[in-house]
Amino acid sequence: MDKNKKEQEKKKNWLGFQKKERIERIEMLENNDFLDKNTKKILLENENLPLEIANQITENNIATFSLPMGIAPNFLIDGKEYAVPMVTEEPSVIAAASYAAKIISKCKGFKTIALDRKMIGEIALYDIIDFEKAKNLILKNENKILEIANEAYPSIVKRGGGAICLEIKKLENFLVVYLTVDVKEAMGANILNTMLEGIKPLLEEITNSTALMGILSNYATKSLVTATCEIDSKLLGGNHVAKKIDLASKFAKIDTYRAATHNKGIFNGIDAVVIATGNDWRGIEAAGHAFAAKNGKYEGLTTWTFDEKINKLKGELTLPMPVASVGGSIGLNPSVTAAFDILKNPSAIELAKIIVSVGLAQNLAAIKALVTTGIQKGHMKLQARTLALFSGAKDGEVDLVVNTILEKKLIINSENIKNILEEIRNI
Ligand code: HMG
Repeated sequence: MDKNKKEQEKKKNWLGFQKKERIERIEMLENNDFLDKNTKKILLENENLPLEIANQITENNIATFSLPMGIAPNFLIDGKEYAVPMVTEEPSVIAAASYAAKIISKCKGFKTIALDRKMIGEIALYDIIDFEKAKNLILKNENKILEIANEAYPSIVKRGGGAICLEIKKLENFLVVYLTVDVKEAMGANILNTMLEGIKPLLEEITNSTALMGILSNYATKSLVTATCEIDSKLLGGNHVAKKIDLASKFAKIDTYRAATHNKGIFNGIDAVVIATGNDWRGIEAAGHAFAAKNGKYEGLTTWTFDEKINKLKGELTLPMPVASVGGSIGLNPSVTAAFDILKNPSAIELAKIIVSVGLAQNLAAIKALVTTGIQKGHMKLQARTLALFSGAKDGEVDLVVNTILEKKLIINSENIKNILEEIRNI
């Protein structure tokens, strides 16, 4: 067996991870071979974005702003195990992702495909007299236009990328020129925008028109990633649960009210990894929601199908996932460096595959809870900690308050939490 395979098969030990103290969790990550010394130091010292850098990267800076970072272990993706760093303020998101990842890892994990990784930008031309003639002139000059685009951003060409092709579409009174660019490991916004501004004057000149704007599109349909999985229904609690998950996915395709919430649940996981890895979550959200409406109506993004013949629930999620492994705040923020290191420094495509798999896992956990116990049971159990903090519980009191409310099987709300806190303090 080759060394790589042996590495993969070395069983990771996550026993009791969720019940450990923070330092012990960091040690478990190290023992499971997900940390190097530098990252361990960043985590132990809780090193964050330095103020001097914060002051350089955005405007009118007055402070930095923190969020909790946690780990969802047991993500088996294309045969490789990952411990996924997730940054979120919402209780139960990381628990839910961990739960689904654990089940799916028992069923061969996630399989992923990334067909392409290119970015698209567009220039809208108007004041056009003859659309057909303008289109033909652009096509006739395509090589020259691509050359000028590449001259505007030579460093991407040196790295093996660059402008690839043009597509042209008439949309009412606009003639829209779409430019496709291979942006390699970057997200590509600056590359695309510089190239588009570089070719704008030439397009205006050859078509005798006016350019309204030139800008990258976040609807990254040339950066689609698909993650799939197949789960034994007995791991979900039986065929009846698998059938309900199948139904829940169908329901999210037909009811927009449900689709929005269904997709919010997917982005609970996706955003958490996108933020941890210093990527542009607004762009990823915009791309995902535009993709959800690709059939002319906003739909749930995942598809779950129960195959009764083999007792397996099959899940699939396809999304535009133009994340980067370089650029932006990547490399400037120590927390982002730590997240990349924990993921073993994936390429942009590998990171996109991890993120789409997390989205699929997150959705499975949420809809499984919805069609069985209801969301409040698992979510509120974890939300109780936040409510205890809001009610003034100190670090040592939080566990006691949460355990007491669970033992007494009381409804988890602020009033009951406050009463328990008072009882504890009066003992
Ligand atoms: P459970 O069955 O009570 O979990 O589910 P368990 O105690 O049997 O533990 C099973 C595994 O879950 C654990 O394995 C962990 O991997 C994980 P172990 O470590 O024991 O070997 N796990 C945890 N990991 C870390 N910390 C924890 C923890 N607890 C369990 N404290 C669970 C409990 C919360 C997982 C389940 O109820 C669940 O998945 N609920 C869904 C929660 C959710 O989706 N929350 C998101 C917020 S709600 C929302 O915004 C989205 C929504 O509206 C989307 C939609 O409508 O589609 C719902």
